[in-house]
Amino acid sequence: DGRHVLLVVSGGIAAYKSAVLARRLIEAGASVDVLLTRGAKKFIGETTFEGLTGRRVCRDMWERPMAHLELGRRADVAVVAPATADFLSRLARGAADDLGTAVLLAADCPVVVCPAMNTRMWDHPATGRNVTRLREFGVHLVGPSYGELAEGEIGLGRMAEPEEIVAALGRLLETESSFEGRKVVVTSGPTRAPIDPVRFLGNRSSGRMGYALAASAWRRGADVTLVAGPGHAPRPAGPAIVDVETTAEMLAALESALEGASVLLMAAAVADFEAEEVFGAKLKKDASATLELRLREATDLLLATRERRVRDGVLTLGFALETESPLENARLKLEAKGLDFIAVNVAEEPDSGFEAPTNRVTLLDRWGNVEEMPLLLKEELADRLIDRLEDRLAD
Ligand code: CTP
Repeated sequence: DGRHVLLVVSGGIAAYKSAVLARRLIEAGASVDVLLTRGAKKFIGETTFEGLTGRRVCRDMWERPMAHLELGRRADVAVVAPATADFLSRLARGAADDLGTAVLLAADCPVVVCPAMNTRMWDHPATGRNVTRLREFGVHLVGPSYGELAEGEIGLGRMAEPEEIVAALGRLLETESSFEGRKVVVTSGPTRAPIDPVRFLGNRSSGRMGYALAASAWRRGADVTLVAGPGHAPRPAGPAIVDVETTAEMLAALESALEGASVLLMAAAVADFEAEEVFGAKLKKDASATLELRLREATDLLLATRERRVRDGVLTLGFALETESPLENARLKLEAKGLDFIAVNVAEEPDSGFEAPTNRVTLLDRWGNVEEMPLLLKEELADRLIDRLEDRLAD
């Protein structure tokens, strides 16, 4: 947000995804200068980018004097997406024979390249050598990823998705943070308690709050493991994701992720109850009968990990959903579950909770602070919560 990005597009079919990248950057609050190589113009038009960025696309070296210096000076970060094999090779040998390469040679901001090419071109030792060279120069690489390539081939060489590139730029531009280098574990989404092979008890959690916390911690340089129940919100790029379904699976994944961790953000809406008996075959409906299910309490993951977290000094944030005496109840939960912070939601509050994009919480901590936060997008709220944890980590 508020940063200036120089987007260099070189000539590959993935150039169409760069329009989405420009759009995502603008949505994030950046201003974007776009520069197309001669090859890129065969794949995508200047007008597209001018429409998206509201800025004139820089056409060539001779358009105005010193364009190659000016563009780099303005940028907080330069990103080449897609970066073709040819562009990588020209960059690696310090070429400056067109505006794209000249700007990058002169730029003193961080440079990110997002390669996109056929697998055989990527695997060629010449490309490997160029990439090593660029890394030595301090250039950052995002991707390529594995997947479908042009002409229906499958392999390594796909340009990273725009969301992944935006997240990587965010992490690169982040100022110093006490999250940097720390291992952070986040849980998100609901857990499912099976009834028979096709049915389960669940809840409406979308995963969005946990995803936002994971994205925020990752952007600040943390090594994030996201233990994700089956939520339907778009997932963050960056964190390592471990998919789980049941409470028992979440516990197992959590216990192994906690190895060496210094922070736990427990945003999952873990099922509180599970069926006493899980039927091995699909239950048949029988018009004459009603079905009775006996439920028992599921494991409480915070309680199950409490001793270990306290012993290892894992800074832990939990959530609470309360209908009555929210602050008193939350304080009891904070103590009982061995938490450092608890973010309290009041049930039935409009625009908050499971299916809303926004949330309003009061944050309590074990040092006696109480902070009422305003109604915020879950992503904004995640940033605020992480700010508070960051202050503690810095202490
Ligand atoms: N939690 C957990 N394991 C469970 C249930 C909840 O670890 N089986 C965690 C949640 O991830 C959350 C915190 O405990 O961070 C509080 O969740 P909440 O549902 O408010 O509390 P409960 O312990 O379920 O208490 P109650 O439903 O009785 O209010």
